[in-house]
Amino acid sequence: MHKKRIVALRRLKESHLQRLREAFEVAYFEEPELQPEAVAAALRQAHGLIGGKLQVTSAMLDEAPALEAVATISVGYDNLPVAELSRRGILLTNTPDVLTETTADTGFMLIMASARRLVELANMVREGRWTQHVGEPHFGHDVHGKTLGLVGLGRIGRAIARRALGFNMRVLYSNASPKPDLEAQWGLERRSFEQLLAESDFVCLTVPLTEQTDHLLGYEQCQAMKRSAFLINVSRGRVVDEAGLIRALDERLIAGAGLDVFEQEPVAADSPLLRMDNVVTLPHIGSATHETRAAMASCAVENICQALRGERPRDLVNPEARPGGFVQPQQEQPVDAK
Ligand code: DGY
Repeated sequence: MHKKRIVALRRLKESHLQRLREAFEVAYFEEPELQPEAVAAALRQAHGLIGGKLQVTSAMLDEAPALEAVATISVGYDNLPVAELSRRGILLTNTPDVLTETTADTGFMLIMASARRLVELANMVREGRWTQHVGEPHFGHDVHGKTLGLVGLGRIGRAIARRALGFNMRVLYSNASPKPDLEAQWGLERRSFEQLLAESDFVCLTVPLTEQTDHLLGYEQCQAMKRSAFLINVSRGRVVDEAGLIRALDERLIAGAGLDVFEQEPVAADSPLLRMDNVVTLPHIGSATHETRAAMASCAVENICQALRGERPRDLVNPEARPGGFVQPQQEQPVDAK
């Protein structure tokens, strides 16, 4: 029987490629931007597409008539045309769960780094500017005992809440649906978005990018925050209206920000954000550890294998793409004891 064909993009480990090659004919492109024509030619025959930072357009899909499944190596899929994929019967999978704890670590790291001025003061030492004992001009703010406001209480929001409770913080959340179990067990308190902005010492964005969350927080929302508050963003850059945030930081409407994501990535070298001492900027490293990126790739590999066997993949984003349903997974055959 002929193997199905897949296109695999960007820096998969040899072990992942080997697993894919056992099941499929694999066309692998480590740096697809250097070979756009070869990628397009491979896609014309492909049943599956797997990779990180995938950019998929309708025009591309027109040229990939055999495509059955796309497996993104990310939890976010705001860069992918979900409705268009579903309309064409193409399954989309992502990689939730495996990156939750690592991304929550990044969020909490930004809370700590912003409050204690970690980057600014570490740079002072490194650059030989630590010439006298530190006094009030260099003091930071406590994190323990403060109020954290989580905008969105999905997996990553909950994992940040757990960390915050360990720091004896009060935790507020705004979310479309209430979470009575977490209110009862952990003492979380639900607020409207506006109320959360007004009460929080740290406002942390963990919502996915959707039409509703696009530019959710800008100048006006910063005006509603405490002047001593910090904004933390580990979701997507476009959830923040960056021009509005820059204006608010310039006017000292808020105390600072910790940002892992930007409207444009990589962020422009001349962004005013990069010159502000009270802004900690990271290059979108929410899930970027060796362990977690490997786990995400394994997860995507399993998803594409399941999808192309006709089974329901574990992390299916768009079940509506396959109204006819899925085949049952094959049972592992027990190995007879000799
Ligand atoms: C994700 O998985 O969505 C992370 O932000 C990395 O892109």
